[in-house]
Amino acid sequence: MPDTNTPDADGSNSATSSRRVLVTGAAGFVGSHLVQRLLRDGYEVTGLDIDPGRRPTPEGVEVIAADIRDEAALARAFAAVRPHTVFHLAAQISVPASMRDPIADIEANVIGTVRLAQAAVAAGAQRLVFFSTGGALYGDPEVVPVDESMEPAPASVYGASKLAAERYLELICGAGGVKCSVLRPANVYGPGQDPEGEAGVIAIFARQMLRNEPVTIFGDGSQVRDYVFVEDVTDAALLAATGDPATCLIGRGEGTSTLDLYRRLASLCGYEREPLFADERPGDIARITVSTALARETWGWAPRVTLDDGLAATVEWFRERD
Ligand SMILES: NC(=O)c1ccc[n+]([C@@H]2O[C@H](COP(=O)([O-])OP(=O)(O)OC[C@H]3O[C@@H](n4cnc5c(N)ncnc54)[C@H](O)[C@@H]3O)[C@@H](O)[C@H]2O)c1
Repeated sequence: MPDTNTPDADGSNSATSSRRVLVTGAAGFVGSHLVQRLLRDGYEVTGLDIDPGRRPTPEGVEVIAADIRDEAALARAFAAVRPHTVFHLAAQISVPASMRDPIADIEANVIGTVRLAQAAVAAGAQRLVFFSTGGALYGDPEVVPVDESMEPAPASVYGASKLAAERYLELICGAGGVKCSVLRPANVYGPGQDPEGEAGVIAIFARQMLRNEPVTIFGDGSQVRDYVFVEDVTDAALLAATGDPATCLIGRGEGTSTLDLYRRLASLCGYEREPLFADERPGDIARITVSTALARETWGWAPRVTLDDGLAATVEWFRERD
């Protein structure tokens, strides 16, 4: 079915412009890449983030300081921006933190998302693209790759919150006439990822290797993940915003073990030390990869960046900046 809300060809800035977008979590890793991509494609972009100073803001883009848990702040932001499309990335993103403090996770990832959806409906937004999770939605799956026909079985509060948020969005956006698409990304990596956090193993390894510091692998290194380059994910977000509304997994459909990742990164960084091994962390899953078939079929999306090219670009970024 053709989408009547595709962006204006002339890039019009009128009050009804379908090129006017709001990106929550715009100062985050994926959000900052998405903002750049939207700007390159001629969208009129406003960001929103609880901590807008986390990353430098591209010229011409305002990132509104607002908390998605704050109803009044959201109402003000939506009244000012009147977005046609909302990309919702703001979230509590740590799986271990979600287990330590479930309420904080639920407040940001469930209540915050519900408030955002209500604000989008009230302001007359037409489309919403939600960043859920692929990696944390299916627990430790018996069969890989997982696909969208499989019943989600989250093994963490973070995964459960993302699943709940998907369901609430379907109801609230459905009732409010906002077309909603959901991306379920696997493990996203690339330049600018935060190496200080608990996730983002590629950023963590790359920085430690470039500084010639010891690198610790949790578990025996056999854990398999589906690593997808951030620009492939932003491609998917744009297609999700203009194509048919759907819920799709986003990955490369290929698994890489932590030890394999270690070896590839060590070679790129010229790092010669052997890894240290520590106990697996509670909640860590053994193996996940995701099917890309539905995203291909629905949006014509396919990952374009090979793991080797993506790792090289990421290491280069850390080498230049660290
Ligand atoms: N990075 C991955 O591997 C990955 C994988 C699957 C899904 N996702 C999802 O993609 C999205 C972006 O992830 P990321 O890696 O860029 O994370 P990130 O932590 O770099 O970015 C999240 C941003 O949200 C902001 N934020 C947090 N709480 C907020 C609140 N209450 N109000 C307003 N802003 C708030 C943070 O300041 C941050 O800038 C998240 O929703 C995440 O769950 C990420």
